[in-house]
Amino acid sequence: MDYSWIQIAVAAVFISAVVTLVLSRGYGWLSPTFWRNAAVVSSVVMTGILLWLTFDTQGKIRPGAGRVPAWDVINYEIGLKWDPEKRRQVPVVGEKTGFFGQELSNEAAYKLINRGKMTLQGRNCMECHTILGNGAYYAPDLTRAYQDPWWAERLMPMLGVKTREEAIAKWLQNPPAYPQGKRRMPNLHISEEEARALVAFLKWMSAIDTNGFPPRFGVVKAEQ
Ligand code: HEC
Repeated sequence: MDYSWIQIAVAAVFISAVVTLVLSRGYGWLSPTFWRNAAVVSSVVMTGILLWLTFDTQGKIRPGAGRVPAWDVINYEIGLKWDPEKRRQVPVVGEKTGFFGQELSNEAAYKLINRGKMTLQGRNCMECHTILGNGAYYAPDLTRAYQDPWWAERLMPMLGVKTREEAIAKWLQNPPAYPQGKRRMPNLHISEEEARALVAFLKWMSAIDTNGFPPRFGVVKAEQ
């Protein structure tokens, strides 16, 4: 069951107050015993909540559970949809299309995504970009980069390719050839194999439910 942080905070204060009052019967609110009880009870209650949240989060961030998709989600079309109830964009998993036209097992998908992550770390993409908000602020956040409408609206027609996967892989091998904005990403001489692995990583990451982060696409607005 999902509780909001307000509900949890109100419940924590309420439980702490009731237990403190019960334990401090017969003592006035100015007595040191009352405040010692208040301190001990609120510490115990908050430690319990912290432990519960830790285990609750573990269940939600494992690939294949809750908000993080299984590795083989890259076999499916992935899009974003506005959820009016949650008032944010949520990833939607669509039709099965395969990855570069090929259906991958969960294990094969994991290997490819992991290779993409290694490439991302090895090439130090975070020197300019952020992922899930971590990294540098020179270039756009990559969490949802796979979903950027620019690929389908502009790049796919320019390159004459049929899939977003192909378009991004081609672009990554020579970004300055097709600039999106004023800042240029240098050509990092990424091989085709590395580019496909990076696309796998970006596609998988774009299917994580990140509570709507980042809120918009677009090039970083700045002079030069
Ligand atoms: C020297 C800085 C720099 C490095 C290093 C760098 N990038 Fe970029 N990247 C940029 C800039 C600047 C842009 C915006 C490009 C444009 O507007 O044409 C960009 C754009 C992108 C985009 C398009 C984002 C979108 O939302 O459409 C992707 C994907 C991307 N980079 C992936 C990578 C990957 C993967 C790496 C590592 C292999 C990497 N970048 C390394 C500067 C960098």
